Amino acid sequence: MEIKHIPVLREECKTHLITNKNGCYFDGTGGFGGHLSVFAENLTHNSLIVATDQDTVAFNHLINRFQTDSRIKIYNYNFTKVDFIMKVEGISGFDGIFADLGVSSNQLDDPSEGFSHRFDGPLDFRMDKKQGKTAADVLNGYDEKEIAKILLQFGEEPNFKFIARMIVQYREKSTFKTTQDLAELIRRISSYDKVNKRLMRVFQALRIYVNGELDALSVFLKKSLLCLNPGGRLAILTYHSLEDRIVKEFFRIEEKGCICPPNFPVCVCGKKPGLKIVTRKPVIPGEREINENPRSRSAKLRVAEKI
Ligand SMILES: C[S@@+](CC[C@H](N)C(=O)[O-])C[C@H]1O[C@@H](n2cnc3c(N)ncnc32)[C@H](O)[C@@H]1O
Repeated sequence: MEIKHIPVLREECKTHLITNKNGCYFDGTGGFGGHLSVFAENLTHNSLIVATDQDTVAFNHLINRFQTDSRIKIYNYNFTKVDFIMKVEGISGFDGIFADLGVSSNQLDDPSEGFSHRFDGPLDFRMDKKQGKTAADVLNGYDEKEIAKILLQFGEEPNFKFIARMIVQYREKSTFKTTQDLAELIRRISSYDKVNKRLMRVFQALRIYVNGELDALSVFLKKSLLCLNPGGRLAILTYHSLEDRIVKEFFRIEEKGCICPPNFPVCVCGKKPGLKIVTRKPVIPGEREINENPRSRSAKLRVAEKI
């Protein structure tokens, strides 16, 4: 398979994640192995890297690509299973945990995956094809209010009510089956200057909902903190504000420790800080990287260290 995916902020991810060249690392979004191979090149033969991807195509690719490197172990699980995988591997803690969220260029550019409005494919959107509802199930089965809520919450689409109404009207006469059924409806009801952003937001909203991406991220962050060795780092690459907000807020709360209401004269919760923030401002790609890889333009890397 031709690899189209270029790892985003590759040098920055490597430099921020690796603090011990003989250590144990976890890549929660192995994808096509771009970041994984950068990490592997920079670790010694005494190191261990455990990677997972919930997408079976990506998993099979990773297995093939790294079959001769005994330091690399590959799983086909959601990254929320980081603690379980750690136990299976008999590891007491990771020195670094990494995630590069969302979908890969290979997933986006493969019409059979049905992630992109640019191609016709099944209206599915699941990264893990064994689990949950498809986008078609949502569009054909949910009521107007539920669809509107998904468009607002996960796509931040300003015209969420109108689009939800149009979706429900469409299915009075027809059924949503392919990505183009949805894309053509959006094109038909949108003005020229709005159509691209709207397509992006509607497709994003459905993808995030169908994969439970934001809930998975919150669970992953909490479990990662428990799975890190002291001094170990958590490095997360996000591509939109909803994800970035969750990471930023998690780091902020864990750095602060105490969760008592601000009007309490003394701390009664006893919660201690769990993380020290390494990147006060997120690391973002420079102009050159954005020109070479436009997909990197919205990337933000945030890094924190376990205390
Ligand atoms: C942006 S790509 C990662 C690309 C990778 N860093 C590389 O350089 O090749 C994101 C990958 O994470 C996977 N993924 C997204 N959410 C996941 C989750 N909750 N658990 C496991 N894998 C996930 C997707 O299937 C996709 O292959």
